[in-house]
Amino acid sequence: MKVLVATEKPFAAAAVNGIKAEIEAAGNELVLLEKYTEKAQFLAAVADADALIIRSDKVDAEVLDAAKQLKIVVRAGAGYDNIDLAAATAHNVVAENTPGQNSNAVAELVFGLLVMAVRGFYNGKSGSELLGKKLGILAFGNVGRNVARIAKGFGMDVYAYDAFCPAEVIEAAGVHAVCCQEKLFETCDVVSLHIPATPETKQSINAALVGKMKKGGVLVNTARKEVINEPELIKLMAEREDLKFVTDIMPDANDEFAKFEGRYFSTPKKMGAQTAEANINAGIAAAKQINAFFKDGDTKFQVNK
Ligand code: 3PG
Repeated sequence: MKVLVATEKPFAAAAVNGIKAEIEAAGNELVLLEKYTEKAQFLAAVADADALIIRSDKVDAEVLDAAKQLKIVVRAGAGYDNIDLAAATAHNVVAENTPGQNSNAVAELVFGLLVMAVRGFYNGKSGSELLGKKLGILAFGNVGRNVARIAKGFGMDVYAYDAFCPAEVIEAAGVHAVCCQEKLFETCDVVSLHIPATPETKQSINAALVGKMKKGGVLVNTARKEVINEPELIKLMAEREDLKFVTDIMPDANDEFAKFEGRYFSTPKKMGAQTAEANINAGIAAAKQINAFFKDGDTKFQVNK
């Protein structure tokens, strides 16, 4: 079977070597398409692929139409909003993700962004510390749980809300469960977003919600830009000169946000999962899932059931 790795933002070399070793050990063939700049390159490369490994690369109906042999696509990572699941199902293609494999990397970056924000973006003036501050985690999945673990190391008081995770599970992790997202924003000094981009969550982080934060509140986004209501957040930050926003996903209105000098930062490219460890974990998991699918028909991680 031909397995295509198509990554506009490539994996670390060690991860590619590991994926290749896994794929070849199972008697399959690996083809690499890295740093492609045109969709046409992707469409050409996928034409004879039986399986596909991607990161945030978009797999839409056009890609699936071009992929005449494709049986499985694995998103090496957590969020699969870049795959058109209905189109995958219509093309009889199994879509999978690799949950949990890159979550520590994303969680660590939350604190990279957060320390920078509370230290005034290293402007030489007095900042503040995280010890004793209240951290709110919005969605208690794999990343949220890692954020909670690390936050405790900083001595933070940790709160979480998750519409799908029972309060007992949150409390069992030594985290205060709150009743709703409004309460989380109202209670915490810092709120870190870990919700996926779904029809329900898109634009849900709006002025009404962020406006509930106490003076000096910090919003951290390592999830998806689509969950932020950008016009409302821009308006709010103009009104509330105390609020800070740090993000690993550059907003569409980056130029507007950049006017809030000393209160806003975006990485130039999503860096959360961009570590050798996360690439190796997620990439090799994807390769193993593809091998298991071809060998035993295993679809444990299928997301378009
Ligand atoms: C994920 O959903 O797993 C993360 O956002 C990482 O995405 P990336 O592989 O594009 O860096």
